[in-house]
Amino acid sequence: MSTTEEKEQTVEEQAEEHGPVYAAYKPAKSRGWRFLIPIAAFGVGFVSHLFLGWVIFPHLLYGKKQQPIDFSHQLHQEAADESCESCHFFREDGSFSGVPKLENCLQCHEEPMGESPEEAKFITEYVEPGKEIPWHVYARQPQCAFFSHAAHVKVAELECVTCHGPVGDSDHTRPYQYNRLTRYSRDIWGWNIAGLKKKTSDRMKMDDCAECHEERKGHKDACFVCHK
Ligand code: HEC
Ligand code: HEC
Ligand code: HEC
Ligand code: HEC
Ligand code: HEC
Repeated sequence: MSTTEEKEQTVEEQAEEHGPVYAAYKPAKSRGWRFLIPIAAFGVGFVSHLFLGWVIFPHLLYGKKQQPIDFSHQLHQEAADESCESCHFFREDGSFSGVPKLENCLQCHEEPMGESPEEAKFITEYVEPGKEIPWHVYARQPQCAFFSHAAHVKVAELECVTCHGPVGDSDHTRPYQYNRLTRYSRDIWGWNIAGLKKKTSDRMKMDDCAECHEERKGHKDACFVCHK
């Protein structure tokens, strides 16, 4: 008796009673999404590695320091009408003065020029004790490389902005970043994480120097041209 009754069960009824078994015989179509698992896993792995490589790793690799004083190039050009040469000049012997010394600032700042808190800090921490400001130089090259401003600015007549970017027009000093392993400034290897060059002022590494030299001179330089 009971066997006949069983036979009379519809597919749906069997499914209700033997659920999992029925599920196992379901047509392949409903399990089709499973092929997506390895693809999704690859996708997640790929994205998380990109995240590690592009976001976390640079974050770990580069240390960051603020400049001791927030110096505004823009303000000094406008309010004080100072030309670049009044602070960055060539000495008699052709050497470049670089970042100005405190005495260049004292011409004006012996007395307060305004009421800004940044100037007050500058006066109490550096002007009054007569202490030089320990500026971080973004373009600083390793000891082994030789560089001369006279050859580039006077002889080759290059603009500051070609190598440094628009520092002369900046309103604030940006943080100085350095590679924790080599201690070199991040500006040498550039800010573009993949190391691809966007514009000349993005970085100042050996290839960038060599590329312009080859362009201008029509031949590759020997190592000793730039190395001590
Ligand atoms: C009143 C003095 C003063 C004047 C004028 C001045 N600078 Fe500067 N410059 C500084 C000081 C101070 C620093 C160091 C702090 C900083 O990096 O902003 C500096 C830093 C720089 C640097 C960064 C070098 C590096 O790699 O760290 C560049 C490039 C520069 N100046 C270009 C210019 C140009 C171009 C002009 C003219 C448009 C100019 N400066 C006018 C005082 C001056
Ligand atoms: C030719 C005159 C002159 C020279 C040289 C000069 N300054 Fe100034 N500085 C000014 C004037 C003008 C102001 C604007 C004051 C104001 O209105 O608050 C100013 C403002 C400042 C401020 C405050 C800016 C702000 O963002 O609030 C700082 C800091 C400063 N100067 C640092 C320096 C340093 C460092 C040097 C030397 C590298 C220097 N100045 C050289 C004239 C000068
Ligand atoms: C051909 C590229 C190039 C040009 C053009 C150039 N610089 Fe530089 N500058 C450099 C390099 C590279 C350094 C780092 C030198 C080093 O570490 O020995 C530097 C360093 C500096 C420093 C810091 C120097 C120090 O040791 O304290 C200042 C300030 C500066 N440059 C300003 C200028 C100004 C202003 C101009 C335009 C008149 C200019 N530079 C033009 C490449 C250039
Ligand atoms: C945008 C072009 C340009 C860039 C960038 C550049 N240079 Fe030059 N450099 C020149 C030119 C042009 C001369 C030749 C000047 C002359 O006629 O004496 C020169 C000359 C020199 C000299 C003097 C030796 C010689 O051949 O006369 C040295 C050293 C030097 N460069 C090193 C460097 C270093 C290091 C860098 C990178 C930090 C660099 N240069 C970046 C264009 C460039
Ligand atoms: C046009 C100038 C120039 C020429 C030519 C040049 N270099 Fe360099 N080199 C540099 C500069 C600038 C640096 C520092 C920035 C960097 O690491 O890219 C450097 C860095 C290096 C470093 C890494 C040093 C360190 O402290 O990290 C080595 C190694 C090196 N150069 C070897 C050579 C050799 C070998 C040659 C000849 C085949 C050569 N260079 C030719 C400019 C030059």
